[in-house]
Amino acid sequence: MRTLFCRMKILHVVGARPNFMKIAPILAQLRNYDGVEQVLVHTGQHYDAKMSGVFFEELGMPEPDVHLGVGSGTHAQQTARVMIEIEPVLEGEKPDVTVLAGDVNSTLAVALVAAKLGLKIAHVEAGLRSRDWSMPEEVNRVLTDRLSDLLFTPSRDAGENLAREGIDGARVHFVGNVMIDSLQAALPRARESRIHERLELPRGGYALATVHRPANVDEPAALLRVFSALAEVARDIPVVFPIHPRTRSRMPAEFEAPGIKLADPLGYIDFLALAAGARLVLTDSGGLQEETTALGVPCLTLRESTERPVTIEVGTNQLVGADPVRVGSAAREVLAGGGKKGRIPELWDGRAAERIASILVRR
Ligand code: UD1
Repeated sequence: MRTLFCRMKILHVVGARPNFMKIAPILAQLRNYDGVEQVLVHTGQHYDAKMSGVFFEELGMPEPDVHLGVGSGTHAQQTARVMIEIEPVLEGEKPDVTVLAGDVNSTLAVALVAAKLGLKIAHVEAGLRSRDWSMPEEVNRVLTDRLSDLLFTPSRDAGENLAREGIDGARVHFVGNVMIDSLQAALPRARESRIHERLELPRGGYALATVHRPANVDEPAALLRVFSALAEVARDIPVVFPIHPRTRSRMPAEFEAPGIKLADPLGYIDFLALAAGARLVLTDSGGLQEETTALGVPCLTLRESTERPVTIEVGTNQLVGADPVRVGSAAREVLAGGGKKGRIPELWDGRAAERIASILVRR
């Protein structure tokens, strides 16, 4: 236990699935400091047990102190509801620092309110840029970074992006990838998971797919193209596809996809077990591009851009878009032994949260 000279209050905000594994290790590290009071706020952007509750349990997170219960809606509705609900919480709590993670609507909504209340903001996973303004996440990232006082970057490219945008380098801290802290902590439990038996999948003998980006699922033609791409891969290897609720809601009720095993969204441990045991991953998720790099599993990203170039330059990731012919041939190349081997990027060492905590308490 380390004792601080003065007391401080740190308020963390989580909202959507990819936030949980980024904030959990920071909460845990800060418990090592006597004199730090922590408040956890859940905006409720994600609310299903399978999208939220199971992650709290498996990541050892405490129950949120405050639940805003904003739920789903259009971008404006969701962002506005978070803003309205968080304002009195921030006014009441008066945190010394508000910690935000990633690029979801909840992140930007809280940043806007905290900045106007004159509160200090720390952004975890700062500086990532896809340079694709049609992605809502890109808008959320750029604006949250602009409003933040402390910017914690996962990779050197992120720091370069921030420098190019004129953000004062004194605010930027290259701390590494905090998601990998959660991954490393959970791997021993993932090795005990029975998910392969439950889904009847041979370890090392299947492809894991996840798709939920609006560009890939919102229009019926785009979703059909994605399924055709997965069907192309399924000719050579079984494909398992845990379906995100956004994707599920766009699929016809009686949907059938030959060769593709559809599943409900999975908890963190079972999902990690599936990713670690996959021969190949196909995804449009940001987090999974990083997790596959950390696990050394080949990843084909079904997008034309990525905000995480280190996973391509150093890791196991390849951008292939969603064209079925291109995806099929990239998958066959991997299956023939041509998958990228990759290395672990700098500071993806399981100690990012430790570095973040020590900077937060220094203020
Ligand atoms: C959000 C993030 C995205 C992230 C993804 C991870 C934004 C702009 N997008 O996208 O960056 O990669 O989370 O999952 O913040 N739904 C449920 N149950 C839930 C939550 C959502 O059924 O617990 C359904 C609702 O129909 C909702 C839809 O999923 O309308 C989409 O949810 P939303 O939070 O708007 O965006 P995601 O696609 O999940």
